[in-house]
Amino acid sequence: LPPTTSIPSSLTLAATALTTSTASSFTTPVAFPTETVYGLGADATSSAAVKGIYAAKGRPSDNPLIVHVCDLSMLQSYCNPLPDIYQELIANFWPGPLTILLPVPTSGQKLLAPEVTAGLQTFGVRMPDSALARTLIKLVGKPLAAPSANASTRPSPTKAVHVLEDLEGRIELILDGGDCAVGVESTVVDGLCDPPVVLRPGGVGIEEIRRVKGWEGVVKGYKDKSEVGEGDRPRAPGMKYKHYSPRARVVLFEGHKTVEVGEEIKGQEGGKKVGIIRTGRWESLVGEEERVDSDEGEEGGFTVRQGAVRDKEGKEVATVLDVDLGQDVKGVAHGLFAALRELDRLEADVIFVEGVSDGDDIAAAVMNRLRKAASEIRV
Ligand code: TXA
Ligand code: MG
Repeated sequence: LPPTTSIPSSLTLAATALTTSTASSFTTPVAFPTETVYGLGADATSSAAVKGIYAAKGRPSDNPLIVHVCDLSMLQSYCNPLPDIYQELIANFWPGPLTILLPVPTSGQKLLAPEVTAGLQTFGVRMPDSALARTLIKLVGKPLAAPSANASTRPSPTKAVHVLEDLEGRIELILDGGDCAVGVESTVVDGLCDPPVVLRPGGVGIEEIRRVKGWEGVVKGYKDKSEVGEGDRPRAPGMKYKHYSPRARVVLFEGHKTVEVGEEIKGQEGGKKVGIIRTGRWESLVGEEERVDSDEGEEGGFTVRQGAVRDKEGKEVATVLDVDLGQDVKGVAHGLFAALRELDRLEADVIFVEGVSDGDDIAAAVMNRLRKAASEIRV
């Protein structure tokens, strides 16, 4: 920070809450904004502090956390020298939505709490492109371990209010930095193996990574597509643990295949409130004037409109809640988690989502999250 910049008191308060006092084993994790999603942070060098994250989220402790640093000199206390393979990647993408794996620090270096890495020999680290996040880390003076600040299995939070929805009563502080610009989590890469691997698609596209020296042969180390049924066969639900899931059942239509809402409704048990998330080609089912009272304004990236689906006799068979995320895939990424959460808040029973064309850009992250959120996929 330039010396003349005054630090808002909320930041000072958050930094104090994150600073472990040696006299007490109690610290509270703090939710803070990053450019990807909100994180739930704690001092990455303190076991007691990191345990507080797992407790607040209800997260299984075998899933390692990402460490966040404010600058390279902080990182070098935990890994020095940085492996050559990462030099250009860091130069290109930090600060930003890219997480790299490094060997866990051993004696002679500063140490991380073992709970951060869940027993692995590597730790994931990134430098966020959010001035608020970096200032917080700088004030704490220690790296912050932070998973996404959602309750385990829920969509990641891209607004402070999403964190409140999930973690109210479980944490003490949320720093509100407005909407997260990117909207999906960081890309996780491992350059310690040959060839290097993308472990999770995210804000930085694999096509951008491939342009960096040493990363031309990077491979995808995650699977989502192969789990999709062949032909028109829907994938069996519940094959893996739920993730990124709203309460409503999510049905994903890959490749812009259109949904016949009327037909779908007839075949559906129970509730009749249908959420639709469109990403460019599906026609709206609702007139322009029928806007619902929604928390989202245009500035949130989308509006929700409500309408009725009628049968041939004109009888209303369902209510439709229509969200248009637009054609630009970055805009889709930005609004995706908020749209899933907003349709939950409006009590949709089922959400039909129009997939985006899978690509080597942020579209890969969008489809990866949707495939994990969906209990049914139509190819
Ligand atoms: O954008 C993001 O990365 C956000 C913000 C808050 O920075 N954080 C985030 O954290 O998404 P989380 O905990 O929800 O996801 C971390 C991912 C998990 O898929 C985890 O398995 C992986 O990173 N990961 C972390 N450390 C790892 C390691 N040592 N080896 C392999 N995977 C690791
Ligand atoms: Mg997460």
